[in-house]
Amino acid sequence: MSRIFKVAVIGGGIGRAHIAEGYSARPDLFEVVVLCDIDPVRLGNVGKQFGIARQVASFDEVLAMPDIDIIDICTPPSLHLEQCLAALAAGKHVVCEKPLVGSLAEVDRLIAAAHGAKGRLMPIFQYRFGNGLQKARHIIQQGLAGKPYLATIETAWNRDAAYYSVPWRGRFATELGGALLGHAIHAHDLLSYLMGPVASVFARTATLVNPIEVEDTATASLEMANGALASLSVTLGSARELSRLRLCFEHVTFQSALEPYAPANDPWHIIPNSKAAATAIDAALADWRFVPSRFAGLFAAMHTALVDGSELPVTLQDARNSLELVTALYHSAEQRLPVDLPLRPDHPAYGSWLPEPFRG
Ligand SMILES: NC(=O)c1ccc[n+]([C@@H]2O[C@H](COP(=O)([O-])OP(=O)(O)OC[C@H]3O[C@@H](n4cnc5c(N)ncnc54)[C@H](O)[C@@H]3O)[C@@H](O)[C@H]2O)c1
Repeated sequence: MSRIFKVAVIGGGIGRAHIAEGYSARPDLFEVVVLCDIDPVRLGNVGKQFGIARQVASFDEVLAMPDIDIIDICTPPSLHLEQCLAALAAGKHVVCEKPLVGSLAEVDRLIAAAHGAKGRLMPIFQYRFGNGLQKARHIIQQGLAGKPYLATIETAWNRDAAYYSVPWRGRFATELGGALLGHAIHAHDLLSYLMGPVASVFARTATLVNPIEVEDTATASLEMANGALASLSVTLGSARELSRLRLCFEHVTFQSALEPYAPANDPWHIIPNSKAAATAIDAALADWRFVPSRFAGLFAAMHTALVDGSELPVTLQDARNSLELVTALYHSAEQRLPVDLPLRPDHPAYGSWLPEPFRG
């Protein structure tokens, strides 16, 4: 019989999806025993929907509960660092929503804290999970794709005034960034997940769609460490929403599904460049086992890693890489210059990617 981890979910916004798609779909792996939210209406509604017995407003109260194995943090971004540090100090495993924290300095602080902790910390990147993308990753990992040439990554979503009526959104102090940090961060993580580290960026950002402080539209031109090129684009003003990844390698081109919030799902087009490549790819996928989408796939993989001590499906280093890319993109857009990675602690944006007037 598998071990059942007891989970406390903190924040009932996206936290509701963690429960609905991930935890309550696998009662053999997880039991959500606590919901914590400072909004009593949301607490009551989400708690009732999933029949969660313990509903509390105080995060500190959750930290003191001895039976909790995993604290899953789904609060606004500016709270993540302190809540992650406190949950690790309480000896719990921690799951935390994106963006993990607000700077490279903060992520390094968290990595140091996690190093000596009893529990393990998994940042959220649920877009990695879906059958189509996982097949593409398997083909690349088997060495069948060949030399990487080009990636084209689009995040074309839509956000309106109602979305920005939630007070923490749209402001540097509380959202910590705009479309590059809060929305396209998923698709940009997928770029590195499939094509490796980024070597250099040139970015432009603009606020065009909504009257907000942070950017809602951006483009960037990238050089990957392996020599491939990539183009990124994001807007929150697209009439029809989609996420799209197109990756051209020497032996195969991958084209994602267009589902905006689950681009990893089937159908992916896997287009071999030759008969030999087609045969090798067919052989590599002969015993393929279906990979569930989003939180269902991510949390099941997390369970395996927590039980057998293997690498988590999203690591702190993965979150650091994504925040390093964010830092480089913002610095490039602000300075109107190309920026090379990695960014060292003496880089001017290491302590904060925020524009000068918003730095603490
Ligand atoms: N992975 C994804 O696809 C995805 C999607 C949406 C949001 N997010 C991220 O999830 C986080 C939350 O976003 P959201 O859209 O759910 O926001 P939200 O405002 O809808 O929900 C956040 C909830 O946290 C509660 N909260 C705030 N402070 C709290 C505290 N100290 N203790 C307990 N509860 C507290 C609020 O009352 C609110 O109900 C953000 O970091 C966001 O970027 C991720």
